[in-house]
Amino acid sequence: MLNSITYGSSLLCLLLSIAKPIHALDGGIEAPTNAAPYAAALLSSDGDFHKCGGVLITPQTILTAASCVQNETSSSLKARVGSSDRTTSGTVVNLDEIIQHPQYSTKTRDYDLALLSLREAAPDNVPLAVIGDFSAAIGSGVTMYGWGLTNYSDTEFPKKLQQLPAVGITAEWCADEWKNIHAISNRMVCDWPPTEKAAWEGDKGGPVVNVLDGSVVGLISFSIYDTNLKKAVPDVHTNLTYFKNWIMDNAI
Ligand SMILES: *[C@@H]1O[C@H](CO)[C@@H](O)[C@H](O)[C@H]1NC(C)=O
Ligand SMILES: *[C@@H]1O[C@H](CO)[C@@H](O)[C@H](O)[C@H]1NC(C)=O
Ligand SMILES: *[C@@H]1O[C@H](CO)[C@@H](O)[C@H](O)[C@H]1NC(C)=O
Repeated sequence: MLNSITYGSSLLCLLLSIAKPIHALDGGIEAPTNAAPYAAALLSSDGDFHKCGGVLITPQTILTAASCVQNETSSSLKARVGSSDRTTSGTVVNLDEIIQHPQYSTKTRDYDLALLSLREAAPDNVPLAVIGDFSAAIGSGVTMYGWGLTNYSDTEFPKKLQQLPAVGITAEWCADEWKNIHAISNRMVCDWPPTEKAAWEGDKGGPVVNVLDGSVVGLISFSIYDTNLKKAVPDVHTNLTYFKNWIMDNAI
């Protein structure tokens, strides 16, 4: 579990070239099988991992990051639900429609949310995510989940879902840490993973969960490890609270 800077503004691309993550979800460990049973792995239509996660919120709706579906169509993607192994078990479902948030910007990364409606419903035994408020997790624990790269020398995405603990931080603290790198909007929430660990390539769209009540309070959006600073900036996630109405209006 590490970096998600692959898509983005030219500024971030430039930063990526000078930034070198040391450890990722890197630093993540394999999640217990049932830790985030609503987590969905996005696959390309040939069955390969699409380098993104998502969460099942109704039997026919998956939320993911808008950046994960940029240039994709409902026939170019599928999803595996009900399995912590992205390559086997559970059920592979087809998409009916991709609804990328209309205000999503590849430049600012703002409004990084998309809703996938499924052609067939996920089986009844796959639990649905409950969306909670990130504010409840500020100063306390969250867990990020993803199938992203687990360290910088890793070339293959892990098959089993990984988890990385972090602490939710205020919007002000986050904006301050990202100052001169990237603007942090109201649509973004942030957490601090332990030193030299971060959400990474392949983790985008995956759940950020409040450990106190198990609710999903964010979707992994972007992160960076800047070797010049010898420390990571906080990981940035989509603020699901902000989108509650949009989600309700579009979910089926
Ligand atoms: C989407 O397509 C545009 C135009 O072809 C391209 O410039 C851009 O890099 C693509 N973005 C992604 C995320 O694939
Ligand atoms: C990176 O991850 C791979 C696969 O998970 C593992 O085999 C390798 O030992 C790890 N390398 C480091 C430096 O941790
Ligand atoms: C997230 O969105 C909610 C609802 O718009 C807002 O009140 C909150 O300040 C935003 N940011 C954080 C860090 O919760």
